[in-house]
Amino acid sequence: MASGLIGRLVRTKPAGLTTAARLIPSRCTSSSTESKPSSGGVGGGGGRGSNLKTFQIYRWNPDSPGKPELQDYQIDLKDCGPMVLDALIKIKNEMDPSLTFRRSCREGICGSCAMNIDGCNGLACLTKIEGDGAKETTITPLPHMFVIKDLVVDMTNFYNQYKSIEPWLKRKSPGDEAGKEILQSKKDRAKLDGMYECILCACCSTSCPSYWWNPESYLGPAALLHANRWISDSRDEYTKERLEAIDDEFKLYRCHTILNCARACPKGLNPGKQIAHIKQLQR
Ligand code: SF4
Ligand code: SF4
Ligand code: FES
Repeated sequence: MASGLIGRLVRTKPAGLTTAARLIPSRCTSSSTESKPSSGGVGGGGGRGSNLKTFQIYRWNPDSPGKPELQDYQIDLKDCGPMVLDALIKIKNEMDPSLTFRRSCREGICGSCAMNIDGCNGLACLTKIEGDGAKETTITPLPHMFVIKDLVVDMTNFYNQYKSIEPWLKRKSPGDEAGKEILQSKKDRAKLDGMYECILCACCSTSCPSYWWNPESYLGPAALLHANRWISDSRDEYTKERLEAIDDEFKLYRCHTILNCARACPKGLNPGKQIAHIKQLQR
């Protein structure tokens, strides 16, 4: 299911957090906001043969707190790379340096450019710009997360949940030879397929209705996928303890197998399936 604007809620501010998730109340164009595009809303052309497209981008600045807005930027697709991240970089470089978003690798590896594009969570660097210039593209932060600025959300809770599943190899006995790697068969290694590829982008967790309603108590699909990754690792000797640690009405059993997570994952993973595996082992 698409994670749309309508489902976005204002959440109460947890202690210690200086940022707040904001409901989007209205739309505006670049001409009515304080950070105006330098070229009057049109960058990189607009002449004959151009292919103009409007991007509506969520803006909120903690230094001048007010209502968040959708700001319009119009760019010429003929003078822009094919991906949504190309458009964002073009806007930042040529029109509005105040636009804030995360990105690093530009090739779907780092997970930092996760955002909501036209109602669906995804990576900006792997999402193609829809070529139909008549249709605008709306870009907002990951849903139900506290916004730090513009498209940047606070990932602290998400990372703490990941940390809570102890995502590292735990052993009770030393390996055959001290200082040497602990080997596993090809068959055992294959059991980690579909989990080790996760880049912790949070597209899945922030598209999960159960996570929206219980973000502090439900671990969410990403952390649970990683829990199963270590539970399934033949070299790990804490399987029983790992299962016990998450055998909890909220931590694990808030998953109702709606499978939004699998639809949202830009790496084609299925966290819902991994959660089902954990539940099976709990029986
Ligand atoms: S399958 Fe579970 S984790 Fe995935 S979206 Fe549904 S409730 Fe959330
Ligand atoms: S399972 Fe997929 S969507 Fe979820 S954090 Fe990992 S890569 Fe991102
Ligand atoms: S920039 Fe790294 S995943 Fe998009």
